[in-house]
Formats: sequence, structure tokens, C-alpha cells
Amino acid sequence: MHDIIEQLEKKREAARQGGGARRIAAQHTKGKLSARERLELLLDEGSFEEWDMFVEHRCADFGMADNKVPGDGVVTGYGTISGRLVFVFSQDFTVFGGALSEAHAEKICKVMDQAMKVGAPVIGLNDSGGARIQEGVASLGGYAEVFQRNVMASGVIPQISLIMGPCAGGAVYSPAMTDFIFMVKDSSYMFVTGPEVVKTVTHEEVTAEELGGASTHTGKSGVADLGFENDVEALLMTRRLFNYLPLSNRDKPPVRKSGDPADRIDHSLDTLVPDNPNKPYEIRELIYKVVDDGDFFELQREHAQNIVIGFGRMDGQSVGIVANNPMVLAGCLDIKSSIKAARFVRFCDAFGIPVITFVDVPGFMPGTAQEYGGIIKHGAKLLYAYAECTVPKVTVITRKAYGGAYDVMSSKHLRGDVNFAWPNAEIAVMGAKGAVEIIFREDKGDPAKLAAREAEYKARFANPFVAGARGYIDDVIQPHETRRRICRSLAMLKDKKVENPWRRHGNIPL
Ligand code: HXC
Repeated sequence: MHDIIEQLEKKREAARQGGGARRIAAQHTKGKLSARERLELLLDEGSFEEWDMFVEHRCADFGMADNKVPGDGVVTGYGTISGRLVFVFSQDFTVFGGALSEAHAEKICKVMDQAMKVGAPVIGLNDSGGARIQEGVASLGGYAEVFQRNVMASGVIPQISLIMGPCAGGAVYSPAMTDFIFMVKDSSYMFVTGPEVVKTVTHEEVTAEELGGASTHTGKSGVADLGFENDVEALLMTRRLFNYLPLSNRDKPPVRKSGDPADRIDHSLDTLVPDNPNKPYEIRELIYKVVDDGDFFELQREHAQNIVIGFGRMDGQSVGIVANNPMVLAGCLDIKSSIKAARFVRFCDAFGIPVITFVDVPGFMPGTAQEYGGIIKHGAKLLYAYAECTVPKVTVITRKAYGGAYDVMSSKHLRGDVNFAWPNAEIAVMGAKGAVEIIFREDKGDPAKLAAREAEYKARFANPFVAGARGYIDDVIQPHETRRRICRSLAMLKDKKVENPWRRHGNIPL
């Protein structure tokens, strides 16, 4: 018996060593942690329960029969974050560059299947050279098995991907189908085809970092949500994100009461919006002042900055926040911001997280770039997402709500549950100047007359009371009482139940 126990310990030790001390040291030299060190930081201390430590690949080609490492390049299992269950896999770059074999894929699939059965999120730490080249098509099959599970799990359990090293080729499509992607600056990259192929095909010279590093994907492409300075920061922020999310679509989003009173008022909000309607202001100031303890977890802050999205808590309740930001492009909706917000609203809806929307939108962005890029189809995504969404929806118009963008931004007509406006709100088909130029075209040569018409239009429509008179706005509220009013609305909506008609699935304009 003693021998057997010794053997077991030896096997375990071999698995823990992964690709060996030399390769682990190389990983550290690159500023990267090992697969196991990452899990230690991600999970509550001592909570990790490892599975499949003794799994080995089954490849016999290219001398692989004698080249086996227990665990086969991925550490899998489950543990807890803040005491709540989570399934994890962490690819080990020190074992065949973290490359995915058939057996490696089976390990990932096993934790995904179990997570679906018990209803708990999956967090994947990706650090891999892609398909295990020695295995060929068996590896491709393994990827596809993971992809299929990513899709089946979508909207059932939250899925989070951390990119902590290479992630290239078809391998990118597993993280792409998860709900959130975090990257580490300067040590991770994602691309479908690498710099060499790009050079051959398009003659562009580009580094891996420029092509698919964290700044590219958090800024330009919007593929990733956030980029962090190092592994430690990325892992700690993942814990923070996790704490806002329910474990599955059957679970309620977590409630974490803080000492911040639900009826707290903030008089500084009364002067947030400048007197001049064309002057911008920072919408995040409102968000920070309204959520519990000023704690707002913003996502995609470098991408499509004309809209702000992220999680906060209101009287302890997790909420998703969507807000036009007048500081960037005057808060207009364009292609990127519509897609960004639509996906976020759909995430919240899938997982029962109420959506708070702060509206200051002069309309959709005009121009050939937008029209040729398909603003019609992409803007419709946000409209579709809000219209389909059945979780509690509370909307506050802080200033402008013009044209189609008024409708889109969680209006009453799209089943907004509670719609507030601040007293200075302007809710109309279009701005006064544009409006009078169209309806009083005959006065075009008479600037004085036109100015008078404009003033008249403004007085008549640039206020919240026309919408209020029709019940499109439930109340006009003082800015300083915004938190209190939202908290009360959420309490009232706690047991809201609305169901969409049966269908296989809708056909969102993709
Ligand atoms: C098997 C691999 C591997 C792979 C790396 N290794 N990638 N083994 N299959 N895909 C091994 C290396 O042989 C090496 O082994 C160790 O991992 C570390 O690799 P290095 O090259 O020394 O590391 P580094 O210089 O940091 O470069 C990392 C890398 C490079 C950029 C990822 O290894 C690389 O380009 N690998 C190949 C990437 C690739 O073409 N993958 C297949 C793509 S197609 P030793 O023993 O020396 O430590 C694909 C399709 C997926 O993924 C499709 C899904 C549908």
C-alpha cells in the first residue's frame, strides 16, 4: 500500500511539474505565471479540486509515444470564487506549448459538461500554440467539440475567457463565443492568421502585438473587453467580474448589500448637465454617483467610447448599466456602439440582470462610412436587444433623446418598465434647427424668421413634458434623487415576469 501511495504522489508530482522547471522558468521570464499559479490566484485559497491529472495523449506519430506529460497540457477542475462554485481550465504552455490534443480537448469538454449539469460558470485561461500539430485532424475535432459546448452553454451559464499567451487560428473561436474576454498586455495575442500569413497574402508588415495584442482588441476591434498589465491583475479583475454574475440562468444575480443607503441623494448631480445643450459632460460621473459605493465595473472602456457599459450594484442588486456618453461623438449611436451595447443588454437579459439605461443621445451618426458599413443593420441590433429583453428595465433621460435613438434607448415603447427624465430633457423627433429648416423651408431666406421658428419649436418640444403628457415618461425627476428613484423602481420590479412568445429563436439582424 505504501508503495502505491508513493507512486500516486510521484505521478501527481510529475503532473504538477508540467513541462519541467526549465520551461516554467521560461514562462516566468516572459512575465507569465504557470497554469497552476494562475488557478491559485483565481480561486479561493485551497478550493481547487483537480480532475484528470493523469490524462495522457494517445498520439504515436512523430515520436510522441514516448513523449507524454500527465495532464496533457491543461489543468482542469472546479473551485470557488468568493465561496461560489466555478469550473475552470488553464492551459499549460510548458507542455507542448499548451497545444490542444484530442485528450486535452476532452478534459475541457468534461468540465464544461459538468458545469452545464450543475449550473455554474466556466472560466478558461488560454495560453496555447493552437492545434497539436502532431495530432492533425483529431485536434481539429477536439476544437469543434469545445465550440459546440460553448454555443450550447451560451445564455445558460456565464463563460469567461482570459487570454494569457498565444491564441491563434481557429482556436480564437472558442473565446469569441464566450461572454467576456480579458487579455494581458504585451504577453497575449489573438488572431485568425498570424503576421507571416498576413505578409504573404496582403503584403502588410505587422507585429503580433499590433495585429492581435490587447490594445488592438480592446480598442480597435472590440473583440476583448479589457486588457490588464499582467496576469495577476487580470485574474483579480476576473474575480471581481464574477461577483456580479449569477451562476446560471436559473440562479438569481447575487445581492451584496453595502452600507450605502438606497435613498442617498447627491445634489452635485443637479449641476452635472451644462446649461449649454451642446456642451459635453462625463456620463460616468453620474454612474459613479448613483451606484453603490461608487463601484462600477466598466467593460470595453477603450472601444466605442460613445457608449458606456458595465456592472454595478443598486442597493446590493447587480445591475447592468448602459449609458450614452456625450463626451465622445456627442453620444451619437453608431455601428460600434450599437453592437457593443446590444451584446451587453443580451447578456444581462440572458442572466436575469436588470438593465439601467442613461440616455443622452442626439441621434444616429450620419455619414457614408456609417451607411456603407451597415448602420441600418447594426443599429437594429440594439433596438432588437432592448425590445426582446424581459429583465427589469429602468431608463433615465438626462438630456437629449432624439429621433430613432429615443425609441432605441430602452424607451417605454420597447417595454421599458420605468422611464424617468430629468427636467432639462429634450425628447423630440429631431433638433430644433434641423426641424425648422425642413418644415419652414419657405423661410430659408429670412434668418430672423427662421430663428423665431426655431425658438418656438424648442419651447414646444425640447422638454420632457410632451412625452410625459402621453405617459411615455413615468415621471420627471430631480437629478439629485436619481439613485433613490432607481432603487425603488428595482425593488418594485423584483418579481417582474414577462415572457416572449414561443419560437425556435428570433432572427436578430446579425
Ligand atoms: C505542438 C507545439 C505547438 C503546436 C508550440 N509547440 N505550438 N507543439 N503543436 N501547435 C511546442 C513547441 O514545439 C515547443 O516545444 C513549445 O511548444 C514552445 O514553443 P516555442 O515555439 O518554443 O515558443 P514561442 O517561441 O513562445 O512561440 C510560441 C508560438 C509558436 C508562437 C505559439 O510555438 C508557434 O508558432 N507554434 C505553432 C502555432 C501553430 O501554427 N499552431 C497551429 C495553428 S492551426 P519544446 O519541446 O521545444 O518546448 C490551429 C487550428 C485550430 O490552431 C483550428 C481550430 C478549428
